Amino acid sequence: MIQRKILLGVSGGIASYKSAELVRLLTKAGHEVQVVMTRSATEFVGPVTFQALTGREVFVEMWDKQRGDSMAHISLTRWADLFLVAPATANFLAKLANGIADDLLSTLAAARECPLLVAPAMNKQMWANPANLRNIEQLKVDGVTILGPAAGVQACGEVGEGRMLEPEEIALHVEAAFQPKLLAGKKVLITAGPTFERIDAVRGVTNPSSGKMGYAIARAAWEAGAAVTLVSGPVSLEPPPGCRRIDVLSAQDMLNAVNAEVDEADFFISVAAVADYYVLNQSEQKIKKDAHILTLELAPNPDILANVTARPNPPFCVGFAAESENLLEYAEAKRRRKQLPLLAANLVQTAIGADDNEITLLDDAGQHRLPRAGKLELARKLVAHAARLYLQKKN
Ligand code: CTP
Repeated sequence: MIQRKILLGVSGGIASYKSAELVRLLTKAGHEVQVVMTRSATEFVGPVTFQALTGREVFVEMWDKQRGDSMAHISLTRWADLFLVAPATANFLAKLANGIADDLLSTLAAARECPLLVAPAMNKQMWANPANLRNIEQLKVDGVTILGPAAGVQACGEVGEGRMLEPEEIALHVEAAFQPKLLAGKKVLITAGPTFERIDAVRGVTNPSSGKMGYAIARAAWEAGAAVTLVSGPVSLEPPPGCRRIDVLSAQDMLNAVNAEVDEADFFISVAAVADYYVLNQSEQKIKKDAHILTLELAPNPDILANVTARPNPPFCVGFAAESENLLEYAEAKRRRKQLPLLAANLVQTAIGADDNEITLLDDAGQHRLPRAGKLELARKLVAHAARLYLQKKN
């Protein structure tokens, strides 16, 4: 993880208490955070809180008589790799949209040299106010990234749009802002997780798969600027923000969902551990255990990836191979059999359920070993590799 310098502006909304958690997440990820608060933000949370969390002095005032050089903190905009304002009040956004610089935070924003992300937080009427919506449109035109807002119960007790995104989600957007936009404008379809083949009303046959690698690839593709659709078997993971998730159970459901989406896709990344068989003699009702021997008749499931590669105009396809032995030999044979421009090979012993992994990418040029790392880091490398090959193929 590369350490970055983040300038965090906190303006005066009740959501400012959540910014303390945001600081904790950003510093935990290894980033340096410098907090600047508006005067009204200090009515909600004391600067000491942020000072303790960042280990850095918190700036509030523009004119600090104690300092020899009152302009010193303006240089913070030059120090920062990224400027984030969370929460961003309607007042702060209005000033930003109109170039008004009448306190330290708005002056820093006007003098910024780095990308600016803002997380609006306000009551639903204030959000829906035409002046506010006009300001938001102007900020988008000016290249400011607007994060959220979310809908839900508000501090005032009303329900509606205007809540600040949760700190975890803002932190994901911050990481995404640092990633190169290699897939901007592209559509990526991903399958992830296991499939579950019903035996009866309560039982089924499945493959062990946590979905972590597929979800990491979905996140990496979203970070790279793609519109991501994730067709997911049953897993206990949250989809990355900005990804559309379609939940499926069986391999046949997964195939149907993929068929409905694939025409639109520029990339198809097949990470799902699809069950090879489904149960022919499924029972609608729960089977009682009075039978001595229960025989299941299994029939082969469709190969979803092979279905996609066999299409007349397939998207750029990436497959996965999980092997327990002869990894590279079996994986390369699979790549050729499935006619894949790119295949990621990993050993089942090291891959399933773990947070990190070790994979080898196989393409027409040969083997590219990605040493052991977290699944997100591997996913980012895989996405970058696929984007490069896709470009080569197009040119
Ligand atoms: N795959 C698929 N549909 C299936 C089976 C697999 O889309 N019914 C995809 C997986 O998502 C993965 C790749 O195909 O990208 C794995 O290839 P496969 O030959 O099916 O792997 P194994 O099931 O491990 O095959 P084998 O038992 O022959 O090793």
